[in-house]
Amino acid sequence: MGEEGKAIVILKDVKKAYRVGEIITWGLRGVNMVVRRGEYVSIMGPSGSGKSTLLNMIGLLDKPTSGEIIIDGIPATKLKGKQLALVRNRKIGFVFQQFNLIARLTVYENIELPLIPRGVPRKLRRKMIIEALRMAGGDVSWLKKKPTQLSGGQQQRVAIARALVNRPAILLADEPTGALDRKASKVVVQTFKKINAAGQTVIVVTHDPEVGHCAERILLLRDGRIIGEEEPDPDKCILNTLKD
Ligand SMILES: Nc1ncnc2c1ncn2[C@@H]1O[C@H](COP(=O)(O)OP(=O)(O)OP(=O)(O)O)[C@@H](O)[C@H]1O
Ligand SMILES: [Mg+2]
Repeated sequence: MGEEGKAIVILKDVKKAYRVGEIITWGLRGVNMVVRRGEYVSIMGPSGSGKSTLLNMIGLLDKPTSGEIIIDGIPATKLKGKQLALVRNRKIGFVFQQFNLIARLTVYENIELPLIPRGVPRKLRRKMIIEALRMAGGDVSWLKKKPTQLSGGQQQRVAIARALVNRPAILLADEPTGALDRKASKVVVQTFKKINAAGQTVIVVTHDPEVGHCAERILLLRDGRIIGEEEPDPDKCILNTLKD
């Protein structure tokens, strides 16, 4: 198999301009990157370097101004409407810094959301929800609770369960530990390691070297461009720096 065959995410000269009135800000100035199936990649860089912009492009949450994005062999930049939503729903799980859980829904209902458009029968849904919650380090006793009845670390485990419930090929996380203490951050990284070991591709945007160094590869972003890679140092990963 060639490099492109193993690739699950390909970006070709992706540019993103934000226009606010007369002012144009470049979020991305031409990004080329390849992530292979089953890789665990960190994206690091200073504030404003384009990390969230890049992740939103890969996650098909926003469209590039120019360039091409190929997700699992599908030229995603050409998709619209229902087709786009379908690829996003099936291929991608997204985890955010602020969890983005829906406050009026229970934990169960939050995790269930990505399964609804797929028409998965109720009994199977329940099985998948419990499996995802366990995978994310959560507890079934949370299922009937509202997100606000849980700690930040617990809410993030629920959000990760929601991202995993469809078993997407790619898990994307934007500063997933940004609102958490180190102990809760470690749990998040443990989950990422576990699902990556099970074959899922994981891409994590982070400021935190203790999280970034847990990956197999670190891409460095500056001013809307990938300027190179840093060799991860397992001794700096929170799994090794924070003892239980
Ligand atoms: N919706 C928007 N409208 C206008 N400009 C934007 C928008 N989103 C991002 N930008 C600009 O694009 C650039 C990249 O922003 P981005 O949010 O991707 O950075 P980041 O690396 O994620 O930063 P942080 O670490 O602070 O989250 C910045 O200059 C930012 O001001
Ligand atoms: Mg950001």
